[in-house]
Amino acid sequence: MRAGLGKGLLLALLVLAGGAGTAPAAGGGRENLNLPDAVRGQFLADMRAHLGNLDDIVAAVAAGDFRRAAKVAAFHMDFGHKTWESLLARGMSEEDVLTVRRRFMEKAIARDPDLNVTDPGDVDAAKRFRVLAIRFHAAAGRFAEAAWFAYDPPSLDDHRRVLERLQEITAVCRECHATFRVRDD
Ligand code: HEC
Repeated sequence: MRAGLGKGLLLALLVLAGGAGTAPAAGGGRENLNLPDAVRGQFLADMRAHLGNLDDIVAAVAAGDFRRAAKVAAFHMDFGHKTWESLLARGMSEEDVLTVRRRFMEKAIARDPDLNVTDPGDVDAAKRFRVLAIRFHAAAGRFAEAAWFAYDPPSLDDHRRVLERLQEITAVCRECHATFRVRDD
């Protein structure tokens, strides 16, 4: 019974690996971030939360509720979303928090020359990771604004624009996963 299950699982994994196409082999070429155990556990939990956020966003877009999608991206797609949550808790309007968040990102990007590198190969792994993390937050912010300021109900054009912005987020998920890992296997 157990052996049967094991074989089935192995087959499923092989099929998945075969279907992945461009996915790198385990570890292959990806840089290990070498996180301490405690940090790694929290990091992976945050990552699983991001997959949940992405699912919530897709569900909200499919339901035509673009404002709900905007809120998930703006207020939860951050490695440190506490600031936005506390501004909301203190009574700042969602629209104002969106604007503050965008300005903060623009300033962070303008201030840090590493974030404008044209060849990321020139900077060390920690900086490249930071570049990708900030790009991720910036993409989430651009998505949130596009979704927030869409017509209600959203037009066909709104759908197209918002899906383009959503793909800009998933492109960064993909790029970071192709570049870094936190485990050896
Ligand atoms: C700045 C880098 C970066 C970004 C952006 C990023 N990730 Fe990750 N993610 C990682 C790394 C590194 C790992 C560990 C991969 C490994 O060791 O194989 C990971 C792992 C994961 C895991 C596995 C969690 C587990 O418990 O094993 C999930 C799920 C995940 N990411 C989802 C996402 C989603 C969804 C997005 C975008 C919405 C995203 N990530 C964006 C770097 C990133």
